[in-house]
This record gives sequence, C-alpha cells and structure tokens, in this order.
Amino acid sequence: MALLLPPDRPAPAAAALLLRALRGEEVPRPPVWFMRQAGRSLPEYRELRRGRRMLDLCGTPELAAEVTLQPVRRHGVDAAILFSDIVVPLEAVGIDVEIRPGVGPVIATPVQTRADLARLREPEPDTDLAALAAAVRLSCDGLGETPLIGFAGAPFTLASYLVEGGPSKAQARTRALMLAEPGVWAELLERLAAIAAAAIETQVRAGAQAVQVFDSWVGSLSAEQYDRHVLPAMQLLLQRIAALDVPVIVFGLGTGHLLERLAATGARAVGVDWRTPLPEAAARLGPAVTLQGNLDPAACLAPWEVCERHARAVLDSAPARGYVFNLGHGVQPQTDPGILTQLAAYVRERHA
Ligand code: CP3
Repeated sequence: MALLLPPDRPAPAAAALLLRALRGEEVPRPPVWFMRQAGRSLPEYRELRRGRRMLDLCGTPELAAEVTLQPVRRHGVDAAILFSDIVVPLEAVGIDVEIRPGVGPVIATPVQTRADLARLREPEPDTDLAALAAAVRLSCDGLGETPLIGFAGAPFTLASYLVEGGPSKAQARTRALMLAEPGVWAELLERLAAIAAAAIETQVRAGAQAVQVFDSWVGSLSAEQYDRHVLPAMQLLLQRIAALDVPVIVFGLGTGHLLERLAATGARAVGVDWRTPLPEAAARLGPAVTLQGNLDPAACLAPWEVCERHARAVLDSAPARGYVFNLGHGVQPQTDPGILTQLAAYVRERHA
C-alpha cells in the first residue's frame, strides 16, 4: 500500500502551522483541516471500504493509515486526523458494538445499571490498543512533517451510545439516567474518561501531535447539568492528557451555551459550530483559548461561489491569533471532494 505523499504536499514550514496556531503563536495564515475529512466524501475511501466492515477497516493498521492519508494527499490540508471511530476503544474492551451504515454505532447490550459498569474496564495499551498504536505509527510515517491529530470520544458522548444502545436525537434515556442515578452516572463517566484517556495516551505515544476530544452530543445539556454531571469527568480526562504535553481541542455540536464550560475542562482550543459567531466566542473565551471552526458544512454542498463567500466571512471574523480553520461539524458524506480541495486551497492562498 503506497503511503507516500505526492510532491505537491505543503512545504515543511507550513507543517507545524497547526501546532503553532493551537499554542496561540503568530502564524502567517490559519491552518486548515476538516472534521471527517477522511471517509465517505472520498471515492478512494469508498473503493477501499467496499466489502469491508467499518470497524474492520479501523482495526487494520495499513488500511487505516492509508485512509488517514487520503485527504492530506487530495486536499493539501495542514493536518491529518486518524481514521478510526469513537467506539473503537469500547470495542477494544469487549463492548459488542457495530457501526451500521447510515445509522451509526449500535450497541447490542446497552449499559444502564450499576452492574453493567464492570464491562467498562480500562484498555491495556500493549494488547487491547495495539492496532490503534500501529495505525498511528504507520500514518505518521507516511505523513512526514504534517501533524497527526489523535482523538477520542468524550465521556458524555460515549455514554449516550452505550446507554441508548445506538444513536439518538435528544439522548433522553441518557439524561434520565444522569438525573435519576447520579452515582451510577458519575462512575460511568469516570470509567469512560479512563477509556478515552488510554486511547489518547496510546495515540500520542505512537506519534499523534495534537488531540481532539469529540463531545458531539453534549449540547443537549444545560450549563448547570454540564457543570454537575460532565465537567468532573472531563477534567479527569484532560488532566491525564495534560501529562502528555500536546494541545487538546474540545468540540461539541450546539454548544454555544457551554463554551466557557468547554474551556474550563483545561482544553487549549475549543471547536465552535456555525451557530456561534467566532467574534462572540473570542470575546467570551479570551485570547488564551484557540478557536477552531466554524463554516457550516452545508456551505460545502453549495456551488463554490457560495462556499467561498461563507468561507471568506468565517476567515474575516476569525481572531488574528489562536485560530484554526475548520467546518462547524463533520464533512457531509455527499460533499463533492473538489469543493473541499478548493476550500483548503482558498484558506492556504488567501494570505499568500
Ligand atoms: O476524518 C475524520 O474525522 C476521522 C475519522 C472519524 C470517524 N468517526 C470515521 C467514521 C472520526 C473523528 C469519527 C468520530 C465520531 N464517530 C464521532 C465524533 C465526530 C462527529 O461527527 O460528531 C461520532 C459521533 C462518531 C459515531 C459515528 N460513527 C457516527 C455518527 C457515524 C456515521 C454513521 C453513518 O453511516 O452515517 C459513524 C461511522 C463513521 N465514522 C464513518 C466514518 C468514515 C462512516 C463509515 C462508513 O460507513 O464507511
């Protein structure tokens, strides 16, 4: 499997842009990458995925590394994100999880009582997470100077899949458990923080230079609920990551009302979706927190002129320092990859 990049990949000087921007340093232009840049928007991914289960692809290091590199080759983005899924560390400790196409992760036996918690042990790095580490190492070998972002699902978002048994709109059962059984809930989130921490430690030790914690569905909580029921586990997770000395981005969809809380986890950077204007986020979080975002992924489904206009507005509204260009959520599977290539070039060249 060819892991080499073509000769037109960004020069090494641009390679550390992401890390510099995450640290709040002055950079010549904002770095650019896209959440869910690896995956179904790319024909080369769909080709490789044919006849294979998603989780088998994640568990085959050579193939996972190849998929990780595909968007870097094609779009010239400033970072790769490991091709994996937030449920991979759960599968690694024996949770019976399947990713159903068009649906998402489905858990055969949900976790709903105190007795169920014993199933959520911390993974052993050398055995349970060996394939994850190998995928990171192979990805880094192929990336050269381009940094690799490792990631994990945040405790709340992982809990939502485990408790509901699959994807859900409002996480009603999850929030019901949180309110009705705060003791069980706290232990559940503590165990999930340990699982996420182990996954991130493994990725950083194998070469990931930054990490993102995806708390995609935590926007369904009030600020008070977040403080009481989620922040303690997030702080545990972020404390373990702090020992690794890599920048951490925390992201959640629809978290405009929680931005200060996401920063209070200890994150170096906060991902913002398109509903929160960047100047508002910057004013609320201050210059010590890097912002990442926030082009509406729907803009990438529109003709390029429309996408460009919205991208320009995002870039014009972004802070001069401590900013990473991204979408406000993942790339939609039906996105024309040509638009993403144009968008990455637009961000790279606007300041040239
Ligand atoms: O490019 C990247 O961002 C890296 C790869 C990545 C995937 N999942 C690959 C994937 C990342 C970072 C994730 C994280 C993830 N997984 C999140 C957090 C990010 C977010 O979108 O908010 C969540 C909530 C999941 C759970 C999950 N896994 C969902 C909701 C889905 C989509 C289900 C569907 O078919 O619509 C998945 C499957 C998944 N994860 C795919 C990919 C490429 C599609 C798999 C396929 O069918 O080929």
